[in-house]
Amino acid sequence: MRLQGKIALLTGAGSGIGRKTAELFAKEGATVIVNDIDEAKGKETAQSIQASGGNALFLHADVTDAASVRLMVESAIQAYGRIDILFNNAGISGVGAIHEIEPEAWDRVVRVNLRGVFLPSRYVLPYMMERKSGNIINMSSCIAEIGLARRASYSATKGAVLSLTKSMQVDYAKYNIRVNAILPGTILTPFVEQYLQSAYEDPEAAIAAIRTRQLSGNLGRPEDVANGVLFLASDESSFMMGSPLYIDGGVVFGKDA
Ligand SMILES: NC(=O)c1ccc[n+]([C@@H]2O[C@H](COP(=O)([O-])OP(=O)(O)OC[C@H]3O[C@@H](n4cnc5c(N)ncnc54)[C@H](O)[C@@H]3O)[C@@H](O)[C@H]2O)c1
Repeated sequence: MRLQGKIALLTGAGSGIGRKTAELFAKEGATVIVNDIDEAKGKETAQSIQASGGNALFLHADVTDAASVRLMVESAIQAYGRIDILFNNAGISGVGAIHEIEPEAWDRVVRVNLRGVFLPSRYVLPYMMERKSGNIINMSSCIAEIGLARRASYSATKGAVLSLTKSMQVDYAKYNIRVNAILPGTILTPFVEQYLQSAYEDPEAAIAAIRTRQLSGNLGRPEDVANGVLFLASDESSFMMGSPLYIDGGVVFGKDA
């Protein structure tokens, strides 16, 4: 029980990595506040946690909308009195080189992936500061460290999240708040399945290419990332501050040929 008694808010926890992390947090004793813009999927996560004997509450919010995020945080505080852990996980994909991206599509990726980290942090931090205690994990990506073809908007936002994490850590260290980032490689989730369908004529060939890109020879699983987030959320990582944690099957530091 590595998170016994903790209150954790996870954005985008209706699917993929967020859902697996919410389930793992609950197994480790946390009370989990499941956020998602997709009400059906978010409720499904909360119900699956409750069905296995865990504590979960679904709170709907669009992480790009200030009023909606503020209301979510206030509801969480009303329900539990505090938030110990915030996992800023919600995100969307963006495909294309700069000249191929419509300005509205660019803005949408920036809004969800960057403003969507800013807003929950903006409204949760005052409560953490008041208690002089807190732990924030921001979802970046290994794409923040490497160039990948036709991923301009996505890589820009994930690089920004990594920089923001370091900056946040400096500002809030004095409040006993830790802020770290998680940088996954390619993990097989609905997000990646959708991206493969929309970006490639032959998704199977694309998966084969990704397999060779990762030294692991395969795509990661949501639970691979969830285990890393659990480590960052627990006291076992208490000396990690403003750091990136790579869970990427060797993409960033490995090269086979
Ligand atoms: N899957 C990967 O290979 C991979 C790699 C690196 C980083 N990531 C990042 O991990 C995070 C989760 O990705 P995933 O693969 O689990 O994706 P996913 O699509 O399975 O889950 C993302 C969830 O976020 C929710 N969401 C989207 N916009 C939202 C909004 N405005 N407000 C609230 N919720 C919203 C979606 O409804 C969905 O349930 C994302 O930030 C993604 O960029 C994923």
